[in-house]
Amino acid sequence: MGDEYFPLYGNGGYDVRHYLLKVSYDPATDRLAGVATISARASQNLSRFNLDFVGLTVRSIKVNGRSASWSRTDHELTVTPKHGLKKGRRFTVVVRYDGVPITQEIVLGPGFTIEAGFIHTDDGAIVAGQPEVAASWFPVNDHPIDKASYTFVVTAPADLEVVANGRLLSRKRHGAKRTWLWHAPEPMASYLATVNIGQFDTHRYRTPDGLWMYDALDPDLFTEPVDPDDPASATYGGIAEGSLARQGEILDFLEERFSRYPFSTGGGIVDDYDNLLFALETQTRPVYSKFFFTSPPSGDSVVVHELAHQWFGDSVALAEWKHIWLNEGFAQYSEWMWSEEEGLGTAQELFDAFYNGIPAANPFWSVVIGDPGPQLLFDNAVYIRGAMAVHQLRLAVGDRDFFRILRAWTTRKAGGNGTIPQFMRLAERVSGEQLDELFRVWLFTAGRPALGGAAAAARSTAAARSSSGVELERLRR
Ligand code: TRP
Ligand code: ZN
Repeated sequence: MGDEYFPLYGNGGYDVRHYLLKVSYDPATDRLAGVATISARASQNLSRFNLDFVGLTVRSIKVNGRSASWSRTDHELTVTPKHGLKKGRRFTVVVRYDGVPITQEIVLGPGFTIEAGFIHTDDGAIVAGQPEVAASWFPVNDHPIDKASYTFVVTAPADLEVVANGRLLSRKRHGAKRTWLWHAPEPMASYLATVNIGQFDTHRYRTPDGLWMYDALDPDLFTEPVDPDDPASATYGGIAEGSLARQGEILDFLEERFSRYPFSTGGGIVDDYDNLLFALETQTRPVYSKFFFTSPPSGDSVVVHELAHQWFGDSVALAEWKHIWLNEGFAQYSEWMWSEEEGLGTAQELFDAFYNGIPAANPFWSVVIGDPGPQLLFDNAVYIRGAMAVHQLRLAVGDRDFFRILRAWTTRKAGGNGTIPQFMRLAERVSGEQLDELFRVWLFTAGRPALGGAAAAARSTAAARSSSGVELERLRR
């Protein structure tokens, strides 16, 4: 695919439309057996093609119903069909495989790694991680640029629940096992696919707006006080339940600022696993570490963050990983807007606290937010300075144009992919401002920016333009 940060991720030559993933998982042995049916279209003539696939054993591969040969390296599965595939033609690949999925160690920052990907828990499994985790449990074109719809057919012990993305279409018991059918119809980046297996209290309901929600909370969370020294303190489960109960309200809040919620279902998943140390915006149904739910404001805030990602990251996914600001800057800034709404500190106060509180010499200021490099992809600065950059944009163009930019971006790009330069162009078009300097300073320069410069300059041209009627003219277009 040619991602600058991760050259091996994804493959060219074809475009996947749908993954049908039939997997059975046995928590007692950690073994997974799968049949992946991949429906794709050739974008060029192909005598062979690559999938990303890591670990696990391939048992057989068929292309359009005929046995194909294959070879493997660490990361790449090269498939050679019996007959070449013609440009423009649809084709189907069926891969049978099994084994124990490996769990990834993901580097979040220097000296800070966490468990991610296919995580084996005490009673089941959690699948969540980024940038690249899907290849550890199914053969995939593993890059967000190749979105597809997904159907999950998951078999697990009958006493466990299975929660994936999208809508639950059926579940059927057969003997000691149960098979669950989940369908996620909207185009989805591969790293956003999740399957969670374990003991869960599940709750299916509709928000007042009519959106189908499916929440899953590990019952163990309700026996664990957040303060281990005070058995009477609130439990992780109680706090998580409270924050998930606000999802409808939070979605309304985000819809007012962005655009309509882009998917047909929602919800959240909270497992009790101690080594799950992050949240992830898995499409329609984020996965949350219990450790966010130590107080209601902290829990609400992470739910705001992951739900904001449903627009910024999921519906509008990255075209390349270097555009990470489009995900984390906006998800973080949504937390700041929510904080303001809740009376817990305004976006400006949060901006000021970080700006004034972090000395200019701190490495925080040396990260280039618009191109942080693969090592610093999820550095704290990408989040906080990312949100600061969003705030500066808002100050520069004013609230009216700022929210028009967010609406235009999330509607025009819905279901697709975006880049920072595309966002910059849209922001300029919608606001009628020249924003080069603002983005150069806040996204593409290391070092603590001087305040007042770029934003103030854009603000004064904004005032001049709107008084001349140019802005209104643009609005009508
Ligand atoms: N994107 C996630 C969030 O903002 C957090 C995250 C960053 C993450 N890097 C990760 C999650 C790696 C899993 C693995 O909510
Ligand atoms: Zn995030």
